[in-house]
Amino acid sequence: MSTSFSTQHESVFRAPARVNLLGEHTDYSGGYVLPIAIPYYTEVKIADGDSRHYLFRSHQFAGVAEGGWKDLQERRHAWSDYPVGVLHELVKLGISPPPFVIDVSGNVPLGAGLSSSASIEVASCLAILHRSGKTMTDAEIALLCQRAENIFVQSPCGIMDQFVVTAAKEGHALLLQTRDLTYDLVPVTSGALAELRIVACNSLVKHSIAAGDYGSRRKGVETGQQVLRERFPGLRDLGDAALEQLEQCADQMPEDAYKRCRHVISENGRVMAAREALLAGDAKRFGELMLDSHVSQRDDFECSCEEIDFLVETAMTLQGCVGARLTGGGFGGCTVNLVRKEDVDTFTASIKDAYQQRFDIQPEVYVCDAVDGAVKLAAKERA
Ligand code: GLA
Repeated sequence: MSTSFSTQHESVFRAPARVNLLGEHTDYSGGYVLPIAIPYYTEVKIADGDSRHYLFRSHQFAGVAEGGWKDLQERRHAWSDYPVGVLHELVKLGISPPPFVIDVSGNVPLGAGLSSSASIEVASCLAILHRSGKTMTDAEIALLCQRAENIFVQSPCGIMDQFVVTAAKEGHALLLQTRDLTYDLVPVTSGALAELRIVACNSLVKHSIAAGDYGSRRKGVETGQQVLRERFPGLRDLGDAALEQLEQCADQMPEDAYKRCRHVISENGRVMAAREALLAGDAKRFGELMLDSHVSQRDDFECSCEEIDFLVETAMTLQGCVGARLTGGGFGGCTVNLVRKEDVDTFTASIKDAYQQRFDIQPEVYVCDAVDGAVKLAAKERA
């Protein structure tokens, strides 16, 4: 393995993680999502490389990927698949970066449903674009990183994570229409919401999108959507659909497809209602919508698990918690909770205790602010 790369012209790019406040599993059927970026970060340092080589290495993850373009064709089933996948998508666009060394580090909890993958992809994409002397719009970067994950990593994710990690704004949730990628930045601290914090609880039950359950849920959504489209020819996707239309087709689709679609269509309605609640500073209403979303994920989308249900149910018994739900891809990962500021410390201690007693696992708790999306941090010119 060669490590004799020179490090002239170093630049550093940083991309956050995310928590989705509402709108789960709606981002691959033209629906709405409402995530925020949170202050856990991946940093990607890029420097000039030797001859015709690329080197991807990390302080955080074991193993490197290195070599010329020919040597980087195969998936390694390793962390490096994410940035190498990004390189593949850039090359497909005719961008061929000069040799580089990429160093990845960060503190995003892994396998927690907080988008560690999108964070690595987007920071790497900015870094490689910079090295290539190219720029792209936020939407182009997000779509490219999604393709990297879908094609090279072979994980069938939607567009939410890559988009919010790229385009988020401090103090705001990003209300994204995932069909056309138009979005609205909605403040998260209006009215009574100013008295609340967003708290994520990590069940430490890990789940990968590539593992199969995500894909099977997605298939159910697509099956039901196809039936709806045939019945209502003007309908583009579930982002357009109403529950009454689904009811009219219920007997023409398998039961599980019907339930998946009922979750998605009702969830889209909850996101629109949540926008109004955020704008009105109506914390109580927002909290109710979160709970409804959780029930729908648990019963209709069937993407929760015992540990997550326990965290949600326990949270709702604790003082100062106005809403709780499973966030992210599901089958483990994190809950997101809205908790009154003055109760955050007791909430954290109580939920840790209860979870420890029930499952003999100490969960991690992250108190989050809504932060900006990915940025360039520094540019160093060395002689
Ligand atoms: C994962 C995917 C997203 C989205 C969520 C569920 O985080 O990467 O695209 O589908 O699950 O809302």
